[in-house]
Amino acid sequence: MPLLQELPEKNIFQAYGILLLQNNHRFVRKLKKHYTPSIHGHKTWNSSFVLMDYFLHNETLEYEQSIMELGCGWGPASIFCAQHASAKVTGVDRDDEVFPFLEVQAALNEVDVTTKQASFEKLTKKELSNYDILIGADICFWDKLTGIHFNLIKRAFQAGVKEVIIADPGREPFYALAEKCLEFFEECELIDWYASEPEYFEADILHIKNSSDS
Ligand SMILES: C[S@@+](CC[C@H](N)C(=O)[O-])C[C@H]1O[C@@H](n2cnc3c(N)ncnc32)[C@H](O)[C@@H]1O
Repeated sequence: MPLLQELPEKNIFQAYGILLLQNNHRFVRKLKKHYTPSIHGHKTWNSSFVLMDYFLHNETLEYEQSIMELGCGWGPASIFCAQHASAKVTGVDRDDEVFPFLEVQAALNEVDVTTKQASFEKLTKKELSNYDILIGADICFWDKLTGIHFNLIKRAFQAGVKEVIIADPGREPFYALAEKCLEFFEECELIDWYASEPEYFEADILHIKNSSDS
């Protein structure tokens, strides 16, 4: 049964075909009484929309792929992939207080997203080998994360992941990661992109392909 009986409802918005909750929606206000995300996972971030727009304009997303979203927060990009490409998505976050928000938004869109509490640095090759694509939106916000993300991408490709796509509003640690990746990986692009829904927003996309993938 749908989570909401009638739409439109106050404090819900739509972007790229999915429904999302604003911070003042009644469900969010209730959840915030019990759960307090503490590593910036307290809202939907705009880079997720840039990732969605990018996916709609290129052929990265194929039907029913296995996708891991790194630092999923409330899971907008995970929900988009599950809804638009019937992807089997796992949202990974170190902060398990974000998952109730993700679960409510997934239910609102009538899709399933598996959740997993883990830090980027703890994701093993064995775990990563279950996925075709890794995605991330606005996950490069501390200098110390640059090396952690770079090593994670290397592990992912060794494990057989085909592509890694990260969107970012242009923070320094993201550009540091992009520089390392452009130097190290054969098939790596840094691309300016923008979203037009729910409003205009620019971000960069780091898109790396596994060159040993056949
Ligand atoms: C800025 S939020 C972005 C959330 C979501 N991707 C979005 O676009 O709305 C960053 C997310 O990364 C998670 N995070 C931070 N450090 C992490 C780590 N070391 N391992 C896994 N997740 C982490 C946070 O808990 C938070 O949910």
